[in-house]
Amino acid sequence: GAKSRSSSIDVPRNHAVSPGRRGRARGTNGDAIEPPMELAARAHVGSMEQYRSMYNRSIKEPEMFWSEIAGELRWETAFDGVDKPEEVLEWNFDPSKGEVYVKWFAGGRTNMSFNCLDLQIERGLGDSPALIFEANDAVNSRIFTFNELREEVSTFSKFLVAQGIGKGDRVIMYLPMIPMMPIAMLACARIGAVHSIVFAGYSAKSLAQRVVDCQAKMIITASASRRGKKIIPLKKIVDEALEICMQNDGFSPDRVVVKGNADTRIDDTPFLNIDDVPFNPQRDLWWDDDISQYRMDEKPDPMEFIDSLDPAFILYTSGSTGKPKGVVHALGGYLVYAYATSKFVFDLHPGEDIVFCTADLGWITGHSYTLYGPLLNGCATVLFEGTPTYPNAEIWWNIVDKHRVTIFYTSPTALRTLQGFGDAPVHKSSRATLRILGTVGEPIAKETWLWYHEIIGDKKLPIVDTWWQTETGGHIITPLPGATPLKPSSATFPFFGVEPVLLDPVDGHEIDGEGEGSLCIKRPWPGIFMDVHGAHERYENSYFKVFEGGYYASGDGARRDADGYLYVTGRLDDVMNVSGHRIGTAEVESALVQHPLCIEAAVVSIGHEIKGETIVAFVILDPLRKKEATQYPEQELVFKVRAEIGPFAAPERVIVVKNLPKTRSGKIMRRILKKIAAGNIEDLGDVSALADPGSIEHCIQAEQRAR
Ligand code: WT7
Repeated sequence: GAKSRSSSIDVPRNHAVSPGRRGRARGTNGDAIEPPMELAARAHVGSMEQYRSMYNRSIKEPEMFWSEIAGELRWETAFDGVDKPEEVLEWNFDPSKGEVYVKWFAGGRTNMSFNCLDLQIERGLGDSPALIFEANDAVNSRIFTFNELREEVSTFSKFLVAQGIGKGDRVIMYLPMIPMMPIAMLACARIGAVHSIVFAGYSAKSLAQRVVDCQAKMIITASASRRGKKIIPLKKIVDEALEICMQNDGFSPDRVVVKGNADTRIDDTPFLNIDDVPFNPQRDLWWDDDISQYRMDEKPDPMEFIDSLDPAFILYTSGSTGKPKGVVHALGGYLVYAYATSKFVFDLHPGEDIVFCTADLGWITGHSYTLYGPLLNGCATVLFEGTPTYPNAEIWWNIVDKHRVTIFYTSPTALRTLQGFGDAPVHKSSRATLRILGTVGEPIAKETWLWYHEIIGDKKLPIVDTWWQTETGGHIITPLPGATPLKPSSATFPFFGVEPVLLDPVDGHEIDGEGEGSLCIKRPWPGIFMDVHGAHERYENSYFKVFEGGYYASGDGARRDADGYLYVTGRLDDVMNVSGHRIGTAEVESALVQHPLCIEAAVVSIGHEIKGETIVAFVILDPLRKKEATQYPEQELVFKVRAEIGPFAAPERVIVVKNLPKTRSGKIMRRILKKIAAGNIEDLGDVSALADPGSIEHCIQAEQRAR
């Protein structure tokens, strides 16, 4: 029963751009930066005409369009739709018409790990580099060819199977950026196990919450993580997390696998002594001790083709409510979308391009563009363990030159940090191999965009400002480097198959032409997530019930200019973006009130020069418990957030107040607190809804006292 809605619209209606001629100014679009001719000549998409015709087809015949692209990958069993293309996609976005669901490539069977490795080897890339590991301390660096990587992955798959891990089982990784991480991810994908990576900056409590939510059967971690000169004892944190799981939920994963990672160092900071790594022989296993028996193992490789609609992985992300959401991606759609976006947005050519995406594998950017996207395109990917400023601020550009990187992808927050070191560290490198620069994670200000273009890109390289989300699996609004004339700070136009609309936040009508609104998407693209793990109602409520009529609501606002260019302005909901990390106000508030001293908290973010946004908390302390407090309750509360969520979520300021500005129905007016926190008290806007107008003056004074 295909329920797919066929499209009758003509596109791109809202995105009309004047075609223009290369290098010639025209209309309001005149100052746009044209793609370099050399790049355009060889690119998969080399002109706006080609973009537009492919885009139109992707909207008019999405099933045919995506079937053809999916056909560039290996399917053991073909998906439905060979005779009836309408069966390639079945969906409903409108909760008033029934359950919300999206099914891409139903009936097909495939495998991510096979497509990343075996398919590339079949095509003759076995001896080409696949994984280029740059360690925090360069002595540990190493390159794996596709053959070598498959060998490692196959070995790890055998180990997983021997440990009783099978199709559908959840495996959590809490690992630094070391080869063990991609190897374990690809091994899970190989046997149909569902990985869930928890960024190794999250606290024990956050880790525990995720372990319980997905009922992880195994945890893979390392003795420690090395970041610059710092050592973070990951295994110790895992043990704390599992203690919490046991106490609160009586739950424990069967196994913890530990990779040794604190040995070789080039500076004189102390080693983490192996005896200091807590170890429970009933439950824990040292990978380094166990590996050899599986390497020698004569058993066949356990690679298994699995259903397109089976989960590929779960990745937790923050929403506007307290509990993080386990975003579930379906195998077939995610695979095709990670492949296609990498191919067209980074213009990847197999066996040629070398991708350096600086995102940690703990985030979706790492999944799609540090790991899966490049490998699916037969390209090498750089895995960098360290930080952008250790041993110095030249390290990224040294890596670019050393490994002849062609595609470089990073975040505005990292660029702002490096900009602070000036141009000299950049000029020590040639960066001659680079073809394309990319940015993701937050809006990029014009000054940062121009610095990236002029200093990093020597005024030659195109910048793809890619807007997307954990939920979207891959790029949604993005330039194509060989086609799109660029305007600083604009993510420009929709990727193939994406039909974005701007909705009026009040009445939900579609805003055509120039204007600003809530950024929503009208129809499914292959990378869209299939569910929130264990909470289908959150899937429907948070994304498809925000507006009536069947729209995916992103939670972001955007503006469209007269040329149809889209500018994403940032979140419209209670989600913050600190250094590119997505953090819910409710998460931080619930961490604060877990402290016995704090009875109420309101959290807002304000602009910050480097981090983009920074967190300010207004808190009410329990008058009865004040005596128990140390001299610095503010500091204690900051520590509480670090312990509950992780250091990256720590408020920059905690302001103690006696009451908070609330509406008569008891809702905190964060809009007003945001202005007070930023010192913008001249115009607080409409305050007529306030229950107690005196609360404003009180908060203003408290803020000023706290400075
Ligand atoms: C939120 C998604 C998948 C990207 C990494 C973060 C913001 C992302 C851009 C951009 C302006 C951006 C949005 C979005 N964002 N890219 N190019 N321009 N804002 O993934 O953690 O799921 O966060 O990041 O606010 O909703 P995420």
